[in-house]
Amino acid sequence: MVDCDKILNKLDTKVLQPQFILLDRVESTNSVAKQHVLDGVNEGTVVIAESQTKGRGRYDRVWQSPSGGLYLSLVMKPHINEAQSPLLGLLVANASACAIMKMGTLQVRLKWPNDIMINRRKAGGILSELVTKDDKVSGIIVGIGVNQNSRREDLPKEIAESTTTLFEELCVETSREELVCRLICEVDRRLIALETTRSFEPTLVEYRCLCDTIGRNVRIEQETEVIEGTAVDVDETGALLVKTSDGEVAVSLGDVFHLE
Ligand code: BTN
Repeated sequence: MVDCDKILNKLDTKVLQPQFILLDRVESTNSVAKQHVLDGVNEGTVVIAESQTKGRGRYDRVWQSPSGGLYLSLVMKPHINEAQSPLLGLLVANASACAIMKMGTLQVRLKWPNDIMINRRKAGGILSELVTKDDKVSGIIVGIGVNQNSRREDLPKEIAESTTTLFEELCVETSREELVCRLICEVDRRLIALETTRSFEPTLVEYRCLCDTIGRNVRIEQETEVIEGTAVDVDETGALLVKTSDGEVAVSLGDVFHLE
């Protein structure tokens, strides 16, 4: 179990005032956090579980959550509107990439929008969910899953090829308390900048540097459409700009595949 005293002793946050809810085995930390938001919990509450039985990924996919991985949901209540929530996802993706890089000599890149990649394999992901009550947004849950100390053989065969873990990359187990601490501090640092500048421009500048999708030929699979072209940028809404044979399109949804 993660030792939250070790984390609290090291944390020096300005915006987030973390309170930890540590659990053993849950369906999904995002679902637990959602219930706490509806019950009126504070911004900065962090739900962490040892394993999840119904971990969720984007588009309601299963997020494999064996023990050894880090499964965390952070309750946020930033002063942003609903349309800006994808940008908050990018901010957390930047923070997660930097936190993971500091855990060892790792080159972490982001696959649009917020897949955390090491050596072109997925090492983590982020799922942001809005919590609404009486048509008002009461908070945003940002769920972060990192394949930290899990082994490749703990993962189902179908994803083993496209997935990696920090353990596989570093050949050593890393401290879960250190990763949680770094994640929260990196998010907090970026929230301070957001509050000061009231702008996501610094988020976008950093994201463009970390994003491995920009500059690549991509195929984007949406529910009813497939878009192929070259990813050229991310616009001010967080959408991926793709140059296709029919002109430039702004893509806000879909699964991205890098073509080379
Ligand atoms: C993705 O890449 O599709 C997003 C994965 C997000 C997984 C995390 S693990 C903690 C939190 N609880 C969940 O059920 N999902 C997120």
